[in-house]
Amino acid sequence: MSYLGDLIYKPEKAVGEAAGKKETHTPKIKAPEKVKAGEPFTVEIEIGPHPNQAVHSIRYVQLFFKEEGRAFNPIHLATAMLEPEYADPKLVFTIRIKKSGTIYALGYCNLHGLWESSVNIKAE
Ligand SMILES: [Fe+2]
Repeated sequence: MSYLGDLIYKPEKAVGEAAGKKETHTPKIKAPEKVKAGEPFTVEIEIGPHPNQAVHSIRYVQLFFKEEGRAFNPIHLATAMLEPEYADPKLVFTIRIKKSGTIYALGYCNLHGLWESSVNIKAE
């Protein structure tokens, strides 16, 4: 059995050829550590420096949320599709959460696969 999750690169697990790609492919997440439950806040995602060409680019960024105490996770927060040569992987999302949890960012490079990072956020 093979799982999609096994194919997702994380900086701490990137080995071999992937180790050399982690700085340029791991989503950098800028988000507050603590927010007010239900109030909007911004999450900034940046990937790169990375080429932005038709033959090689970051094609999309996705955000998911693992909400503490929820029976089924994750919650899909957002997907941003990026047009090669026109749209850079530098994005700002406005999010609101009701409970504490973990935000996961996924970035997909058409040549170097899916890369993941995450941050914990406390909702009070
Ligand atoms: Fe790449």
